[in-house]
Amino acid sequence: MKHRKLSLTLAVGLLSTTMTAQKALQLNKKNIDEVIAAMTLEEKAQLLVGVGHQDFVGSGAMLGQHSRLVAGAAGQTAEISRLGIPATVVADGPAGVHINPTRPGTNQTFYATGFPIGTCLASTWNTDLVYHVGKAIGNETLEYGIDVILGPGMNLHRSPLCGRNFEYYSEDPIVTGLIGSAMVKGIQSQGVGVSAKHFAANSQESDRTRVDERISQRALRELYLKGFEIMVRDSKPWTLMSSYNKINGTYTQGSKDLLTNILRKDWGYKGIVMTDWIGERADLPVETEVEAGNDLMMPGYADQAKHIVEAVKAGRLDIKDVDRNIKNMLEYILKTPRYKKYKYTNQPDLKAHAQITRQASTEGMVLLKNDNNVLPVKNMKKVALFGVNSYDFLSGGLGSGCVNVPYVVDMVHGLQNAGIATTKQLTEIYENYVKYAKAKLQADKNPEMWFLDQGQPKLDEIEITQRCVEHEVGDADAAIITIARQAGEGMDRSIEGEFNLTDHEKAMISRVSDVFHANNKPVIVIINSGSVMETASWRDRVDAILVAWQPGEEGGNSVADVLIGKANPSGHLTSTWPISAADVPSTKNFPQQPAYYNLSDKLYSNNMKGVNYTNHEEDIYVGYRYFDTFNKKVAYPFGYGLSYTTFEFGKPSVSLNGDKITVTVSVKNIGKVAGKQVAQVYVKAPKGAYEKPSCELKAFAKTKNLKPGQSETLKMIIAKRDLASFDEANSQWKVDAGKYEFCVGDNVESIKGTASLNLSEYTEKTTNSLPLNTKMNLLHQ
Ligand code: BGC
Repeated sequence: MKHRKLSLTLAVGLLSTTMTAQKALQLNKKNIDEVIAAMTLEEKAQLLVGVGHQDFVGSGAMLGQHSRLVAGAAGQTAEISRLGIPATVVADGPAGVHINPTRPGTNQTFYATGFPIGTCLASTWNTDLVYHVGKAIGNETLEYGIDVILGPGMNLHRSPLCGRNFEYYSEDPIVTGLIGSAMVKGIQSQGVGVSAKHFAANSQESDRTRVDERISQRALRELYLKGFEIMVRDSKPWTLMSSYNKINGTYTQGSKDLLTNILRKDWGYKGIVMTDWIGERADLPVETEVEAGNDLMMPGYADQAKHIVEAVKAGRLDIKDVDRNIKNMLEYILKTPRYKKYKYTNQPDLKAHAQITRQASTEGMVLLKNDNNVLPVKNMKKVALFGVNSYDFLSGGLGSGCVNVPYVVDMVHGLQNAGIATTKQLTEIYENYVKYAKAKLQADKNPEMWFLDQGQPKLDEIEITQRCVEHEVGDADAAIITIARQAGEGMDRSIEGEFNLTDHEKAMISRVSDVFHANNKPVIVIINSGSVMETASWRDRVDAILVAWQPGEEGGNSVADVLIGKANPSGHLTSTWPISAADVPSTKNFPQQPAYYNLSDKLYSNNMKGVNYTNHEEDIYVGYRYFDTFNKKVAYPFGYGLSYTTFEFGKPSVSLNGDKITVTVSVKNIGKVAGKQVAQVYVKAPKGAYEKPSCELKAFAKTKNLKPGQSETLKMIIAKRDLASFDEANSQWKVDAGKYEFCVGDNVESIKGTASLNLSEYTEKTTNSLPLNTKMNLLHQ
């Protein structure tokens, strides 16, 4: 009896010692390997798969929202409490925090600031300003209890028809990389992470989950990957999101070439990679993803964890690959506010952030035309505001990249705040229509069309009769017409009616211009669109065109700031505005299905029969690299943007120090009002082993706000390796020896001065990754 009691005591003692030991093992910076050793295979599998899907579908939650901790956040990782591993929360997106604005059981609201969309931010060409926007987004992320924001979007504007271009920055990888990097640094300065996306070549929405993007290694390295490379090297993002598509036959989310060889070996990336929001694919075993270096399957399905366990047990997946990814995951978790038990307030300073978004969007707006200096407006008391979106201004795009904003300042209120009234009758007609159309939209809502439900859909334009315009002209000093476009996730844009104007819009522009001009009154067009549009056929009819993009919640105020001259426009285009969509070389290889959504099909398949690959035959000739090299006329060139003042560029100089090239140029404001100017450096390479575009942007800088007569000397640094071409045959970057010209201007067609430099040869070996395995008719000079 005594003996039994003793052994029982011993057993209890042993158990409690083990329990204490286990309890004592709580994740910290120094015990990662120990924690990995203590994890069961099931726990490891669980940590590599988000907790999203199985819990939420069927529970009434909207697809795409998979977090229990923060309502409306896109996803959550698994918690393993016995080892002190907390769940972490990720939420969209590139223009601000996307979460549910209201929650059951409380009157408190959880709105987030709607910042300008990616294209607008990039059009500022102001990395400091983008950093500050990033800081504000990071702060809202932190204060709403989120660990990672799913942005920035960094895919290239390969085609003006891509439905998600608004989330992305540019057709140029240097703009994409530098603006992206500033955004990542700003967000991460707040102690939260980013997930730069969609890695890589997600340049179309049509059939996005299956399409095979066939791209030469050279175009991949020099264009589609380059922006990511710059950002990864410069700003150390916590996470990256692989894309839905394939590249050269392999899904990016299962591509060892992309996720290990390029990303980690060539670029030295240290963070985690998560998938985009898709489950297991019939043609991609989850073990291939784990092995390839995809650390986290999002939003996560129970089956994926089960399959990881099975694959290890069956010897199809090496536990070392699992452990490597677990280590990445633990290193990520250690950085998160949730691990650090940050006490978030749910009350970020939305008022202060509204000021930041207002300033950022005015600086991103691009003035395309300003005949007879009609802008800034002088003595304007009352305007006739045409176009439905003057009254329902679009602050952002549709889909996961939208933000649930507290309000949107429309043009009527923006102008009113600036002391300009709108004509009574027209305002009433449009405002009543907007009310009616919104109510109808609500009534006709299809719960399964969730993409379209995320954000502000575009209402149909109404017909403006001649009589109406004639009535208005008597009452107004000028006409303002808003032409808007909406686009978003899951759909590409069509040429007719989306890239081009609709018949209603054409008629509206003609009627309004004829009548107002006959009365000597100006006509100003505001473009409220996230993407490039056709302008060449109608621009001659109007006096001024301002591209306001989708500028965030303060939109109307920002536009008014520019119209009245409180802000001098200093935005420049980050993508070429072509004369017609057919002029863009990728158009013939862009799937031109109309906005498409097949509800009877599996939600994520976007099943478009017959479209499952896209040949990048234009190769390295994307955007201005094509138009400039092949001498094709465009409506507005890359880098273009007018100002209310005039700038003079001094003669640029260039010098080499080690492997750093410094380009210096002075910029002087020789006009009458204060303003900012962008210096853009385009490099012309000597004739060498490789065919090169006529010139390529390699650096840019923006002046401060220069007063009339004031000048500033801008210094721009270019790493010598950034002048390299990708040499496919030898898997290396190579700078040919010879004389390089550094052309400085304010758009690609407006070079103000050139300096040159002789450079010696430079090479840098890379892995031989993602070879093109189909024959394609690549474009050559
Ligand atoms: C989108 C991602 C987004 C994710 C989570 C996906 O469908 O492609 O950009 O971050 O959903 O909402």
